[in-house]
Amino acid sequence: MPLLQIEGLWKSYRGRPVLRGVDLEVDPHEVVCLIGGSGSGKSTLLRCVNLLETVDDGAVFLDGLELTAVDADEDAVRRKVGMVFQQFNLFPHMTVLQNVVLAPVKVHGKDRRQARAEALELLGRFGLADKAGEYPDRLSGGQQQRVAIVRALAVRPQVLLLDEVTSALDPELVGEVLDIVRELKEQGMTMILATHEMSFARDIADTVCFLDGGVLLERGSPEQVFTDPREPRTREFLARTQRR
Ligand SMILES: Nc1ncnc2c1ncn2[C@@H]1O[C@H](COP(=O)(O)OP(=O)(O)OP(=O)(O)O)[C@@H](O)[C@H]1O
Ligand SMILES: [Mg+2]
Repeated sequence: MPLLQIEGLWKSYRGRPVLRGVDLEVDPHEVVCLIGGSGSGKSTLLRCVNLLETVDDGAVFLDGLELTAVDADEDAVRRKVGMVFQQFNLFPHMTVLQNVVLAPVKVHGKDRRQARAEALELLGRFGLADKAGEYPDRLSGGQQQRVAIVRALAVRPQVLLLDEVTSALDPELVGEVLDIVRELKEQGMTMILATHEMSFARDIADTVCFLDGGVLLERGSPEQVFTDPREPRTREFLARTQRR
């Protein structure tokens, strides 16, 4: 049974459809990469799954429970569905440790000492133990993004959504963030990533989905989508990205 099911998702902004009936199933431990041009709806799709946007039609299920139900508890949903953004959105007036501990304690009512111990353990696992007491502006972009990933993991989500987590980084910092994503895959984390890093998508994805104008036009294994795309639009998109 899939862990996450997206069924017939529609979303419009001011009457203009941005997602047009998207269906997607994600199995436990599966890594799905969303590719597609700017404005194709990748971020909107991830935001709908995390309830940062309301959907106009369709539904999202996690473990058989409907996240998009009108009476769904948003905090409970975000405990199960973690999200990391392009801009790391760390709180600048809080240390790394305080950033990581915040949601487990404030939103989810975890005991502070327990939350601190778990946060330090997570930071250690991702090579950030010595940064626990630092403020975000003393860290490199790559380190800040790694902290943002740790912060999302701190509530032990069942699914992690990553939206262009490397695109605000200098090229030499991209690798350390991609390494973390790779490590999460090895640990069995179920993930959906929107990415412009085609070689990374090819390397890490179990399934690649091509979005075009809010339609999930093509999905398949990385080999199939990248070397033998069925849809002319996918072909055009890949030719454009490879020329860059
Ligand atoms: N809050 C909003 N209000 C109005 N329009 C929006 C809003 N958010 C997104 N859109 C529009 O929805 C469309 C899809 O945007 P989205 O951010 O999902 O694209 P994307 O595939 O993530 O693009 P990119 O690769 O540039 O990140 C775009 O045309 C965008 O302008
Ligand atoms: Mg986007």
